[in-house]
Amino acid sequence: MLEIAGRTLGVNPVRTLLHFTGKTSLNLLIATLLVTPLSVWSGKKMLPSVRRMLGLYTFFYACLHFLIYISLELDFNFKDLRIEITKRPYIIIGVIALIGLTSLALTSTRKMMRRLGKKWQYLHALIYPISILTVVHYYWQVKIDVREPLLYAGVLSFLLFWRLLRKVYKTN
Ligand code: HEM
Repeated sequence: MLEIAGRTLGVNPVRTLLHFTGKTSLNLLIATLLVTPLSVWSGKKMLPSVRRMLGLYTFFYACLHFLIYISLELDFNFKDLRIEITKRPYIIIGVIALIGLTSLALTSTRKMMRRLGKKWQYLHALIYPISILTVVHYYWQVKIDVREPLLYAGVLSFLLFWRLLRKVYKTN
């Protein structure tokens, strides 16, 4: 059986890699969304650079996830990708989420922040719909036990609702 760093990749190494990179990307996305609440609750101003770094790691793992899928699963056959998209709605959701993450990663530099001004805030608010899409992507591809995606949905709902309340009541 195929092994990486002393760990076996199981009977279906491609699926194992897909699950590992997908889950890591989602965990990093949740960690990115946790930076603001944690800094508010602890009273410590966490550097925006921590959030940026976590966001970029999210993007890195999402790209790896897509590369594994397109190379090892589809053999770079883009015609098959078109068929997969029509057959499995969770794939199109994943593609949309990845396009969104790409636009955030490309505009995450200080230079782009300055150049886009107020528009930057609106663009980066895309992280909220993107996070919802990734949880839907996860939920839809699970065949039987949906407890874990539902747990992610719960955590994400809490983080988004917390932000909404904060905006409504304009607290710091
Ligand atoms: C082009 C974009 C994407 C494609 C083609 C894609 C494709 C896939 C595929 C084929 C699976 C495995 C399904 C199965 O085992 O039956 C999967 C699972 C998953 N993907 Fe994606 N995905 C994409 C984007 C994303 C993004 C952007 C994220 C998160 C930020 C993500 C997170 C996940 C998660 C959490 C799983 C489930 C892992 C598990 O079951 O442990 N995916 N994806």
